[in-house]
Amino acid sequence: MPHLLHIDSSIKGNESVSRKLTARAVAAWRAAHPDGTVTYRDLGRNPVPHLDDNGGLARQTPVEQHTPAQAASWRVSEELIAEVRAADTIVLGLPLYNYGAPSSVKAWVDHLVAPGLSFDPSTGSGLLEGRDLIVLGSRGGGYGPETPRHGWDHVTPWLPHGLAVTGLEPRFITAELTLAPVVPAMAELIPLAEQSLAEAEREIDGLWASVSV
Ligand SMILES: Cc1cc2nc3c(=O)[nH]c(=O)nc-3n(C[C@H](O)[C@H](O)[C@H](O)COP(=O)(O)O)c2cc1C
Repeated sequence: MPHLLHIDSSIKGNESVSRKLTARAVAAWRAAHPDGTVTYRDLGRNPVPHLDDNGGLARQTPVEQHTPAQAASWRVSEELIAEVRAADTIVLGLPLYNYGAPSSVKAWVDHLVAPGLSFDPSTGSGLLEGRDLIVLGSRGGGYGPETPRHGWDHVTPWLPHGLAVTGLEPRFITAELTLAPVVPAMAELIPLAEQSLAEAEREIDGLWASVSV
């Protein structure tokens, strides 16, 4: 049975653009997979713990020698990786905050990279490959070539590298200039913002359009 993992990470509640995009994608996926099931995780409202020294040491200590605190951190990694393993499609909402990923997404990725669970340490091969990871990005500004802050988007280049060892390969659909309608100084960018959102929505609507039900 097809299974989708839906993850949000916005801290902007009902005003979130990425939450709207992930909801749209999940609705499209459900329409194309009437027998499919969905698991939901909200990193923005319920962040997973950062890797502390227990999580760090758990990664270099044989499981049978884990202290209780290391075992507890390892269990979080096991749970998050099991969620990914159970899914053939993952939809991740990914805002840009302070030119990087939400810290909750960084913590999620840190947990996902775990020897023996998400990659084979002896061969380096990723154990999560073969899944479709669709990342629905949202960002207040615009960072394309020729813009003043081109290169300041550190999310899009980082995520594929952060996950590379696991075999997950994200593909991105992004709505940019989302702050244009709310920041007066950006008012002249509203048409571009609307265009970016419409393009993102169109791409989302096409993701599973060819799947026959
Ligand atoms: C804490 C915070 C930091 C932000 N930092 C940036 C930034 O560095 N660059 C940018 O383009 N937009 C920034 N924004 C605007 C968000 O990227 C924008 O609101 C986007 O729509 C966020 O996705 P969301 O609506 O799903 O939360 C920031 C917003 C917040 C709340």
